[in-house]
Amino acid sequence: MRRLLAVTAVAAAAWTARRALNRRIGGSPLWPLPALEEPVSGHSPRRTLRALIVSRTEPAEGVLRLVLEAPDLPAWTPGAHVDLTLPSGLVRQYSLCGDPAEHGRYTVAIRRVEDGRGGSREAHLQLVEGAELELRPPRNRFELVPAPRYLFVAGGIGITPVLPMLRAASAAGADWTLLYGGRSRATMPFLDELARYGDRVRLFPEEETGLPDLAAVASAAPGTAVYCCGPEALMRAVTAATPDPDAVHLERFAPAAGPAPARPFTVELRRSERVVEVAAGESALAAVRRELPDTPYSCEQGFCGTCQHRVLAGEVDHRDTLLTDQEREDSMLLCVSRAEGDRLVLDL
Ligand code: FES
Repeated sequence: MRRLLAVTAVAAAAWTARRALNRRIGGSPLWPLPALEEPVSGHSPRRTLRALIVSRTEPAEGVLRLVLEAPDLPAWTPGAHVDLTLPSGLVRQYSLCGDPAEHGRYTVAIRRVEDGRGGSREAHLQLVEGAELELRPPRNRFELVPAPRYLFVAGGIGITPVLPMLRAASAAGADWTLLYGGRSRATMPFLDELARYGDRVRLFPEEETGLPDLAAVASAAPGTAVYCCGPEALMRAVTAATPDPDAVHLERFAPAAGPAPARPFTVELRRSERVVEVAAGESALAAVRRELPDTPYSCEQGFCGTCQHRVLAGEVDHRDTLLTDQEREDSMLLCVSRAEGDRLVLDL
């Protein structure tokens, strides 16, 4: 009986809190209230891992290769990337470019970008052998789908997610070709490793050959899966050249387009029972972080997926190039996407 009374008291308190919340957002419930007792976050918090840097090498000019080890590193598949937390707290995404069969070991390669946002410069300066790094388990938005033939196109450091794909495609007995471009041979990492694949690999060091010849993309046989990672211009050119846009898989580490005009809207944080106003000139992420400073984020440009959260109500103006149509049905990236109308309700 005492237990029943306690449960009833908790339910009554929850109901009172919900009514109070609804009063705050404008009278009677505007939105159907979900059962908050259920964990409903669409982007489940990922556990944090720690790994030791056991090797630091420079496989090309301006490129740093790190090997990380820890016994509990989760398994991964070709195309996956990890979020590394740099010593300053910046979080950056890097594709795993080692061998998925090596348990407890991740390899990443980082191109130093002098005029970037600082993450790669910090990595080059501060990530040394023997240091411990925090990271999150791998995610894969660039999965290698089964296909009889593959055409891989990589530009510069975009070779990193492609490397394990080449191994997997070879092991599966698939027919494949790689077009790999870069400024010069000296700046193109992993040429040694690629040499063993012979004429399946076509190199385009720009100072010798000019930009990659995409004729192979235009003439790809039906059923060929096309994978491209590199500068935005290269990905656009590959998408334009292919006769079958559905066969193209892209991995972005930069935004696809500039910002679109924006207007203010309201965000209700259902779990936290708060309401925030998003001004025309700020992102939903910035507004949410005023109330919930621990809300995770990284790129702030809509391509890493760190700020993905479930939407409980309201229409979203999706401005990213990352989420699938299915993901867009009930989630959004807070850093770039906005409300289509005046209000969104988030599971936060
Ligand atoms: Fe990277 Fe939003 S912070 S997608």
